[in-house]
Amino acid sequence: MSQETHTLMFALPKGRMLPNALGLLRRAGFWTPDQDNGRKLIVESPDGRLRYIMAKPSDVPTYVEYGAADLGICGLDVLRESGRNVYEPLLLPFDYCRLSLAGPADRPDWPLRYASQPRVATSFPRLTTEFFRSRGVNAEIIKLNGSVELGPLVGLADLIVDLVSTGNTLRANGLVEIRTIMESQAVLIANRAAYRLKAPAVQPLIQALRQAITQQS
Ligand code: PRP
Ligand code: MG
Repeated sequence: MSQETHTLMFALPKGRMLPNALGLLRRAGFWTPDQDNGRKLIVESPDGRLRYIMAKPSDVPTYVEYGAADLGICGLDVLRESGRNVYEPLLLPFDYCRLSLAGPADRPDWPLRYASQPRVATSFPRLTTEFFRSRGVNAEIIKLNGSVELGPLVGLADLIVDLVSTGNTLRANGLVEIRTIMESQAVLIANRAAYRLKAPAVQPLIQALRQAITQQS
């Protein structure tokens, strides 16, 4: 087997999820880059077994579906939003949150009763469209890339669909949850072809991660 066969390309999510992802990989016995790795976007382990791609979290499923990465770690939320076709061999015990519909606290029963065409701000247009369509509500979806809670505060939107973890951001901005759309947590994803063709490298890695998770709990 060539060296390439043994080298696994692993897409890591930059930002909030990174410390947990690195921690799990280390506990499972794998070399990882430091948290603060400067501006370098591809980092190879000293033994050449792993090559990490430091990706924007929402792009991780894209790298993995196309095989630019064999494996990756991302949230179920961004995976479902991406619609990418990958394996999901292992749920990971961190970055728990939920995608929720929320609105101004003074009109908590907003959504489906008052507005025939509510305007909804979100970074998850696909899941939001699906949610309203399945309820027969003709919502106008306004895509924002962050600070979505601003939407109703400045009159841009009636409602938001965004991630909720502690609920602090909603509370701090006078918003309340109306419905949970999906529960999310981190997940290990794998390219479908690599999962089979690189099984000798992929399977032990999955097994080691699984064991590290079991030992931790
Ligand atoms: C995320 C998410 C919510 C908040 C939820 O935003 O979009 O706004 O965290 O966490 P909480 O329930 O614990 O308050 P983030 O801080 O990542 O910023 P962004 O929306 O601007 O990307
Ligand atoms: Mg936010």
